[in-house]
Formats: sequence, structure tokens, C-alpha cells
Amino acid sequence: MVGPKTELEAKFRARYPAAPPPRFFRAPGRINLIGDHTDYNEGLVMPMAIESACYVGVADNGLDAFRVFSEDMQDGVEFRIADLDAAKPRRNWTDYVIGVAAELKRAGVPLKGRDLLIESTIPVGAGLSSSAALEVASTLAMLGGSRMEPLEVVHLCQRAENDFVGVPCGIMDQFTSVFGRAGVAIKLDCRSLEYEPVPLPRKVAIVAVNSMVKHELGASVYRERVNECKAVLQAITEKHPEVTSLRDVTADMLAEGYNWVPVKRARHVVSENMRVQAFANACRAGSIQSMGVYFTQSHRSLQHDYEVSCPEIDFLVDSALTQNGCFGARLTGGGFGGCTVNLLNRDAVPDFRTRIREAYRYSYGIDPQVLLCEPGNGASMLA
Ligand code: GLA
Repeated sequence: MVGPKTELEAKFRARYPAAPPPRFFRAPGRINLIGDHTDYNEGLVMPMAIESACYVGVADNGLDAFRVFSEDMQDGVEFRIADLDAAKPRRNWTDYVIGVAAELKRAGVPLKGRDLLIESTIPVGAGLSSSAALEVASTLAMLGGSRMEPLEVVHLCQRAENDFVGVPCGIMDQFTSVFGRAGVAIKLDCRSLEYEPVPLPRKVAIVAVNSMVKHELGASVYRERVNECKAVLQAITEKHPEVTSLRDVTADMLAEGYNWVPVKRARHVVSENMRVQAFANACRAGSIQSMGVYFTQSHRSLQHDYEVSCPEIDFLVDSALTQNGCFGARLTGGGFGGCTVNLLNRDAVPDFRTRIREAYRYSYGIDPQVLLCEPGNGASMLA
């Protein structure tokens, strides 16, 4: 855990004793309330930024290189600015940092040699966007206070992840890390990038339960799903040339009888977009029961139509749904492990925590992390 800024400052001093006084940047993780696997299909999502965040301390080093150290990984990397154009991924955490540095350079941002110290409170592999937070915090640190439009930061980080890290992710995680706002979830249209703040009913608590598993399969299935969505889109476009993304696809079009697995994937995307809309309306109306129903329907769709769940996550969802004060539960993020997100009555949180831990420990022998999530602000420099 990162304590106050002074604690990180002490670690920075210890690692880089000759450095001038550092500046500190923070970029949060996110939890997605509803709308998964819709972002790369120009669909709707409704995430919120969380308190857990990635922190980066940074100071000029007078060299023409970046020196980067991660307190969490106890591992570092050094790379020259001149070598960035030819940089190759190393297939570990450093790719997120080198990737954004390479993108900054490509975007024509003048880069200075700097020392970076990274420490994060976001659990890795939990589906809470620790990597997007690392990208955003590193970008701000490397900009070192120079101005870049927030939306440009988002696009730059997404490009780094798509092109350098090699994950064909959508825009949701980076967007939320930059644009999150305390007290509200963000309903984002991933086509127009218009977004609206949606306050959650006071009575409701958002709780993440970390299954503590991350199945290897996840990354390759993510790619496979992106490709299946492309394939079904192409088939639909042949009949309906006005369709340019799954966002334009209707349930009627899907009912036209493509007897083919990718149609199930598209059915998830089409129905999930409708659920995001309905969930946001229910949220504004304070209809907690309905919010819960959309939550759980979303999980079933990810489980059966999109097929990105796993036994541990299904267990956590089913077990949550039997508990008092739980209105709905679903997997959140890419799937194949990570967290479930649970919609609870605030008063029910302590009992829920105890029971879900007992149940999961009993069946899987694993102690899950249970995190109460409050909607937090997006990335910033620390004063
Ligand atoms: C990952 C990706 C996001 C999004 C989710 C699924 O978190 O990074 O872009 O596709 O999976 O909703």
C-alpha cells in the first residue's frame, strides 16, 4: 500500500539520491459497472474510477534516457530516448511504460531524460485496469507537467496498448482513468466519446470481489472475440450496408438466421448496449431492484453468449446472489478471472464480506479480496 505522498517521496530519494525534487502523479484503476466487451464495438459502457491508483514520482536526470523502477515488481528498466523508435516489447510490465514513451515521441512531444518511481495500490490481474493506470500515470510523468489534452492522453495510452503491448483493447479503461469523477459513474458512448456522469443511489454500495485467479487463456480469447465480432459484422454488412459497427446491429438483424457462433457474440454486444442504457435509467430513477436485474442479466450474457467467464467467477456470482442485500452480481472487465462487481445494500456489506469469503474459501480454498469501491477522480498531479 502507498501511504501519504511523503512515503513515496522517501522511496524516490532512496532510489535516486542525486535527483532534484520530484513531482508526483496519480492515475486510478476502474471498475466497470456494466457494458463489457462493448467498447471495441463502438458501444456503451458504464465504469467508475476507484480510489486504488498507480502513483509515479518523476524528476529530470540530465541524461538522454529514462530510468524507471517499480516498487511493486522490484524491477527496473533504463532506455534511451534515441532508441525509442526501434523499441521492441519485452513482454512484461515495462512494455506499458516504454510503449507510452514511444507513442509520446511519435506524437512529436519533446522528451527529456527522467527518473521514474512507480508504486500502485491496484491489484494486478484483477480486472481493475492496473495497466491502463500505469500507462496514464507514466504518460503524465513523462510529460512532466507539459500540457496535453486529456482525450489525447487517453488515445495515446490506448495506442500504446494496441500497437506496442499488442492487446486490441477498447478505450474504456484509459478513458476512465483520465475522466473519472468522484461520486459518479461515467456512462460513455465509445462511438462519439460523449459521456455523462451518473450518480449512484445513496443506498447502494459497489463491492468488488477478487477471485485471485487470472486464467492464461484470457488474452488469446480476448483477441478471438474481437475477431469474431469483426467476422459477424462483415457478414451483416453484406446484407445491410448501412451497418458500420455492431453498435448499428439490431436484434431483428441477428434473428435473420446466421447459424454461427459469432452471432452469439454479437447478441451479447447488442443486448449489453441495451442493458447499459436501461441500467443508467434505473440508476437515475433510484430503482435499485431493476439495476440488480440488469447486472445479473449482463453476467448471464457474458457467461453463455460471450463465453468469457470461468468457474470461479460463476461461483462468486451465484453465491453473491443468494445473499441478503445483494441486488445483482456480474463479472467485470475482460473475464477469465479477476473480479466480480456486486451491487449491495450499504448495510449488507459487512455480512456479505464475511459470507462470500467463507463460501469461496470452502469451495476453492482461496481467500478472495473484497473491496468496497467508491467512485473517485481521474488522473492528476499530486499537490
Ligand atoms: C478489458 C479491455 C477493455 C474492455 C474490457 C471488457 O478491460 O482493456 O477495453 O474491452 O476488457 O469490457
